[in-house]
Amino acid sequence: MSRDIGEIASEWVVFEIKQFDILTIGDLCADLVMMGDDLVPGFSQEEKLVDGYALRMGGSCSIFASQAARLGLRVGLIGVVGDDAFADLILDTLEESGVDTSLVLVDPQVQTGLSVHLQQPDDRSILTYLGTITSVLPEHVSTELLHSTRHLHVGSYFLLPQLQAAFPTIVQEVKKAGGTVSLDTNWDPEEKWDRGLGQVLDYTDVFIPNEQELPAITRTHSIWAGLEKLKERIPIVAVKMGGDGALVQEGEALWRATVPEAEVVDTIGAGDSFDAGFLYGFLQGKPVEECLAIASACGSATVRAAGGTAGQLWEKDLAEWVPKIQIALAKSKG
Ligand SMILES: Nc1ncnc2c1ncn2[C@@H]1O[C@H](COP(=O)(O)OP(=O)(O)OP(=O)(O)O)[C@@H](O)[C@H]1O
Ligand SMILES: [Mg+2]
Repeated sequence: MSRDIGEIASEWVVFEIKQFDILTIGDLCADLVMMGDDLVPGFSQEEKLVDGYALRMGGSCSIFASQAARLGLRVGLIGVVGDDAFADLILDTLEESGVDTSLVLVDPQVQTGLSVHLQQPDDRSILTYLGTITSVLPEHVSTELLHSTRHLHVGSYFLLPQLQAAFPTIVQEVKKAGGTVSLDTNWDPEEKWDRGLGQVLDYTDVFIPNEQELPAITRTHSIWAGLEKLKERIPIVAVKMGGDGALVQEGEALWRATVPEAEVVDTIGAGDSFDAGFLYGFLQGKPVEECLAIASACGSATVRAAGGTAGQLWEKDLAEWVPKIQIALAKSKG
């Protein structure tokens, strides 16, 4: 039986193809990692010799973007770099991983941000020059861009002061266009843990703090109390616990991941790589425990190499790394 074209069109489901799987707004910087047993500087012109160094792309959002792109996601990164050699290092690294760098702006008036990590075997100290890290402005984040992504990842919330007032509107725009939002604030250098964060949390689908950040943000005294407080408010909360693995809460269910013991070179970017792995699973609609396993594989792989990106996995590596992660149900739905 033939049917009228109008009748058929009214049954069509319209799928909008978005330009990006993930968009992130970033703190782009370089990391100079110095390695040795005694890196405490001696002033009065003392010169100390160190065991080695690595010069890599740093920045929470840029490391995140690199990992997400290596997993095959279409990733756009909004950020600012200077016109210098560190900017070249950052852009080359992002492009090698497959990140779309067309949204990265160059500001020749400001130096690219730089962190010097003094990495001793059991501790580290970081010296940071912010430079272009804080140069991202609300006008760099157009509504059109926010509507062109399936997902927005907000990282380094506290390092982007010029954007903080705009973040509630930014996340609402993404949701208005049917997108989802994840948040990893990372550390607050002022340790106030607020600055309008509550309004962003209300639009967050996946919240990914570490074990120190969760109690600080929820103003509780433990991970457990923090998770309880967010149960009704945020659909998925994943908590990173370094070498002790990670947790994920979805409603009443709580899963725990245990990672194999690793020979740690440094843990730079482990949390950001974890975030990207989690969202790789989330955007495919995988169950949270599978997202947790992928995230944990990505996090634990990065610690074996210096800096945030050298040890990151590619999508093809997941088949080898994910089975190394043990997942257990810590608390069930019922
Ligand atoms: N020492 C380690 N051994 C093995 N895996 C680790 C180690 N440290 C971190 N990881 C892996 O990386 C994940 C995230 O690490 P971590 O808890 O350090 O996040 P974070 O504090 O957010 O890190 P970041 O410094 O990037 O902000 C862990 O859940 C784990 O899977
Ligand atoms: Mg972190």
